[in-house]
Amino acid sequence: MIKFLNLSTEKPYINFYSLYQEAKQNGQKGIEAISVSSYNQPKEEVEARYVNLKYIVNDEWIFFSNYLSPKASQFEFHDQVSVLVYWASINTQIRMKARIFKTSPEFSDKHFIGRTKEKNALAISSSQSKPINSLNEVKKNFQDTLKTMTPETVRPDFWGGYSFIPYYFEFWQGHENRLNKRHVFEQIDNEWVERLLQP
Ligand SMILES: Cc1cc2nc3c(=O)[nH]c(=O)nc-3n(C[C@H](O)[C@H](O)[C@H](O)COP(=O)(O)O)c2cc1C
Repeated sequence: MIKFLNLSTEKPYINFYSLYQEAKQNGQKGIEAISVSSYNQPKEEVEARYVNLKYIVNDEWIFFSNYLSPKASQFEFHDQVSVLVYWASINTQIRMKARIFKTSPEFSDKHFIGRTKEKNALAISSSQSKPINSLNEVKKNFQDTLKTMTPETVRPDFWGGYSFIPYYFEFWQGHENRLNKRHVFEQIDNEWVERLLQP
């Protein structure tokens, strides 16, 4: 589930929230899964991966990850990302273009404190995306870290939130006979400009 805090009252946000409620009512599984694509500059490749969107605070969309992972260095080099949502339960795709940056340390700390110690032990014990010899080693690193966890364990510097703020939305809603509705909102000079696109 996504937590909405002080949600922006701009049109694309109202649209998103209302579609989110509709998808939830229709039993959408994995409703918080979003695909984030970033640019790997040294390799001149675009890379996509799913993450779980945890919050939308006003106009800031927040997920959590490892700050030493491949995605982290890609965001550092190139702060523009493409984000995708598809909710099959209501046959709706949402495309976004956004700028990404690290969430405030205070917000990340607060989120970290509210998670289970198992989740935090995994976040601490894993050098995300680095090769490892076996799954047993992953399990051992996790179990060893879990034993050291206390209520005082703080968030490590290498793990925290990423916030992105979209400047472009396209809501695509599938209809019969491919008469699909495509509704775009683009931020131009601080205004959201709306247009419809042909299917
Ligand atoms: C549904 C789903 C949700 C995921 N959520 C997260 C997440 O919130 N944070 C994260 O770091 N990885 C998440 N992952 C794993 C990422 O897709 C990815 O494997 C990992 O972050 C490493 O990506 P990177 O090598 O591009 O940095 C998720 C995977 C799936 C399938």
